[in-house]
Amino acid sequence: MNNKASASKTGLINKLDEMFPFDWEILREAGAEPVPHHLKKWWFCLGGTVLYLFIIQVITGIALTFYYVPFPEEAYQSIATITQEIRFGWFIRSLHRWASNFLIVALFLHMFRVYFTGAYRQPRQLNWLIGFMLLFITLSFGFTGYSLVFEQMSFWGATVATNLTEAVPFVGPTLAYFLRGGPVIGDNTLTRFFILHIGVLPTLAFIFIGLHILLIRLHGVTELHFEGETVPEEKRFFRFLPDHVINELMLGVLLLYILTILSLIFPAGLGTPADPNITPEHIKPEWYFYFNFRLLKLTSLNVSVVFTLFLCLGIFLWPFIEEFLQKKFKFPDVLSVMLGLVFILIFMLFTLWESFAL
Ligand code: HEM
Repeated sequence: MNNKASASKTGLINKLDEMFPFDWEILREAGAEPVPHHLKKWWFCLGGTVLYLFIIQVITGIALTFYYVPFPEEAYQSIATITQEIRFGWFIRSLHRWASNFLIVALFLHMFRVYFTGAYRQPRQLNWLIGFMLLFITLSFGFTGYSLVFEQMSFWGATVATNLTEAVPFVGPTLAYFLRGGPVIGDNTLTRFFILHIGVLPTLAFIFIGLHILLIRLHGVTELHFEGETVPEEKRFFRFLPDHVINELMLGVLLLYILTILSLIFPAGLGTPADPNITPEHIKPEWYFYFNFRLLKLTSLNVSVVFTLFLCLGIFLWPFIEEFLQKKFKFPDVLSVMLGLVFILIFMLFTLWESFAL
């Protein structure tokens, strides 16, 4: 480059700097954050996989919104048009479907890894609470999104879910009325689910993901030590940028490959249109609600709702409950691990039971 050209480039950079006076050193420092070496293993950095899948959901979701019509008479037909007529519509819709399932699996796995490595303990209790809110938001994405399809199964699944909401003590009836946009599922319900799915939930998700990542940066990721493992001092950490980001991106490419193959072999289907006058013989929600569905079938509406509420509250507040138990009764770590394993076993058992039941 001759002197004249490089001078004009500096001039341009100065001009940009003047118009956007940002201290780029901050970004450079953030990128140099040391990452504990165990994060080279995929199961220890599943949070990044969740984030990656969330980004895929945002991109494919925005694409779908160009053609989706959130009114009961047209919703089903608009999904049929996306699937059958719009160029690559079936592919974008299938990616959105598959990635949503992968996202929820990755989220559960991320939560399990955080739990079993005790990474929710002091000083990271607040990040566990924020993470739990993200789980709630993600499941709400799944529920509202499935309802938008407006096929028989999703319509009746939404009916059962709003009935469950109604049984929540104290706030239930108001919450159910708000969700349905009236005393029963009607014309307003779909628009409400749509606004929740593409407006309210994404906004909440961005805020909570931002807080979650900010806290991870402030605390740093928990450094784990394994029995018999000896790591030389210089290998205890590696660089966030570019090393960790490149690892995550390679994983991302693999995931996109798997999602594409699945979308090609098992594209998102479409059931019969919703008919409020015909109750299907067997109603099934998405698989991640099978646990609650089985519980509902084994107990009663009120028992299942109250039990679920207590369970959620217990998981949400677990870092503080455990802390209290440890101070008062010397509750050993191994009991927390056992409790976690029992919960996962029951959750899987109920999920499998419901998936094989008619
Ligand atoms: C959209 C959902 C979520 C995203 C994008 C996300 C993202 C992340 C990322 C990138 C990390 C850094 C380490 C890693 O990759 O594992 C992390 C750590 C953490 N996450 Fe999440 N997470 C989400 C949901 C959750 C949930 C549901 C919980 C638990 C209820 C949770 C609790 C935590 C905690 C306590 C840490 C700190 C772990 C440590 O220091 O080792 N997160 N999260």
